[in-house]
Amino acid sequence: MLNIPVYLDNHATTRVDPRVVEAMLPYFTTIYGNAASISHKFGWDASEAVDRGREQVAAVIGAEPREIIVTSGATESNNLALKGPLSYLKRKGNHLVTAATEHKAVLDPLKRLAREGWDLSIVNSDPHGLVSVEAIEAALTEQTVLVSVMAANNEVGTLNPIREIGKLCHDRGILFHTDATQAFGKIPLNVIDDHIDLLSLSAHKFYGPKGVGALYVRRRDPQVRLSPLFDGGGHERGFRSGTIAVPLVVGMGYAAELAESERVEESARLLALRERLYTGISEKVPAIQLNGHPSLRLPANLNLSFAYVDGEALMMAMRDVAVSSGSACTAADPEPSHVLIAMGIDEDMARASLRFGLGRFTTIEEIDFTIEVVSKAVAKLRPLSAAWNSNV
Ligand SMILES: Cc1ncc(COP(=O)(O)O)c(C=O)c1O
Repeated sequence: MLNIPVYLDNHATTRVDPRVVEAMLPYFTTIYGNAASISHKFGWDASEAVDRGREQVAAVIGAEPREIIVTSGATESNNLALKGPLSYLKRKGNHLVTAATEHKAVLDPLKRLAREGWDLSIVNSDPHGLVSVEAIEAALTEQTVLVSVMAANNEVGTLNPIREIGKLCHDRGILFHTDATQAFGKIPLNVIDDHIDLLSLSAHKFYGPKGVGALYVRRRDPQVRLSPLFDGGGHERGFRSGTIAVPLVVGMGYAAELAESERVEESARLLALRERLYTGISEKVPAIQLNGHPSLRLPANLNLSFAYVDGEALMMAMRDVAVSSGSACTAADPEPSHVLIAMGIDEDMARASLRFGLGRFTTIEEIDFTIEVVSKAVAKLRPLSAAWNSNV
């Protein structure tokens, strides 16, 4: 089936799975109690639904349900994970470590902490966007108290060796946070085997609703202590006050369960579609470059630079396919992506990049259509480039 415009921006957000919508609906109109109301059935039913959601999320990562704190999404989870433990950690040391390829929702809270006096090291990735355990180890000092490295990159899909990094941190008594926003439900994750103390996720990245996410907070070996970002009614064991959005938690839980139960089969399907897209474009379009790791990457991610064209212009020339480009189109002079720059990709090639994010609802017809649209758009734009004309 071909749905035009074709949606290939599933790293930005995903469509809510109709099965998830169905599961959420009764919690708007019938089971609408406040999960914190302990004196009547409306509250008990809501509370039971939240418990189930928590169990479903926990099961995906090998956690205990009570280790899952409901938040509004990964931005909040990251902020809580990075700022929450510091009042307890400051007696031990003042050094934090992260990587240059992280999402802004990790980099910006950490940069704020650096302005407030924390010592921050930002480690470079390799040219594939991979953050090596050696690079993290080289950055550690006696003062390091927390390391944050994402599980999968949101632009180039590169998978980091988080198990090795987690082990390194645990051997040194350092807390390890991973932003698993793009990885949750897409690749295997286990907080015990991967030595993770804090893990962030967001439901709208795995076919759940927007506005809800979670933070896994380890309870044992070590027990992670957190100060909340905001105070109030003491919900979520005091870590996150505010009435829980019950329908959203129901949706997040069911979306998590579906993602995990279908993960292996769905990954194989997406990988085949991704390879078809890459091969199809490679056969029709010369002078392209694959950004990110050739094999250690999310199955649904393809990030390509098209030499001698601007990503923004290319996107505009292919309006029937929704993708993202490697430059931020908000500014008058678009900034090339900080991730691609951190990987050592030159500015022109970073600006000439497109991110294709395939997803659960992507069809083979849509992939074939995209190959046609991209190749025609590049063929139209390249003759307008003086550099291309002097090159051919
Ligand atoms: C890796 C990563 N971290 C954090 C976020 C922020 O997620 P949210 O907007 O749901 O808070 C995103 C979303 O793009 C992401 O890709």
